[in-house]
Amino acid sequence: MSIIIPILPAAATLQPEGAAAGSAAADGAARKLNIRVLRFDPRRPEVAPHWQTYVLDDAAGMTLFIALSEIRERLDPSLQFDFVCRAGICGSCAMLVNGRPALACRTLTKNLESSFTLAPLPVFELIGDLSVNTGKWMRGMSERLQTWVHQQESNPDLTRLEARMEPELAEQIYELDRCIECGCCVSACGTARMREDFVGAVGLNKIARFRLDPRDTRSDDDFYEIVGDDEGVFGCMSLLGCHDVCPKQLPLQTQIAFVRRKMVAMGWK
Ligand code: SF4
Ligand code: F3S
Ligand code: FES
Repeated sequence: MSIIIPILPAAATLQPEGAAAGSAAADGAARKLNIRVLRFDPRRPEVAPHWQTYVLDDAAGMTLFIALSEIRERLDPSLQFDFVCRAGICGSCAMLVNGRPALACRTLTKNLESSFTLAPLPVFELIGDLSVNTGKWMRGMSERLQTWVHQQESNPDLTRLEARMEPELAEQIYELDRCIECGCCVSACGTARMREDFVGAVGLNKIARFRLDPRDTRSDDDFYEIVGDDEGVFGCMSLLGCHDVCPKQLPLQTQIAFVRRKMVAMGWK
């Protein structure tokens, strides 16, 4: 998916690569950003992956989303990247910023050096340039882990009122449900990069979430069947890159350790 919503700071101007800085920079009015983007289109394999530099003026409140939108609007309509919400909610704009996974719509250019690099998230299928197919990976993980509430009732009463839940427990579940499936944790994980089927911190967090949910009738034995192997919780080497980069600050370290302890106990039974 590739969506552009042009939001252009009034002060920003664009220049092709190599152009003179101009009087604005001489006046100290705006610093120049040198944005190096790793470009490759799998549909055009004859063009090798290469870096392309775009130069534009920084502006107050500019995010990488705004910068990339300007590049595509005014300099290079062929540049591919993904955005939907621009508010850190949809998870579609994750990319490597100076080699570190981050959400482009939540990254202010003022917090970066004037020269920086952007590259697509590794692990996921590349669509083109900065656009990757996280949806396909997340769907596969979700089907494998069956990330939905399992109930044993064969004929649930659809007319009954909602199930009651203690507010504290609902809060704990909500905390883990804040995951936006951006893929940052997967891209930052050494295991995920070596092991194609590893479910990643995002998957282990979902197991922790459904294990907490009293409406889900799966037992720890059932969860062990799903994640009690090297593609699940025992593949995690506690590298903790996932925890460091999660843009929603989910407690991944705690949750992974918790799931591992529970699954180890199941394995000893
Ligand atoms: Fe993104 Fe955090 Fe969810 Fe991983 S756990 S997909 S980093 S929000
Ligand atoms: Fe990977 Fe996080 Fe484990 S980075 S190895 S899932 S602690
Ligand atoms: Fe939705 Fe960045 S555009 S999280």
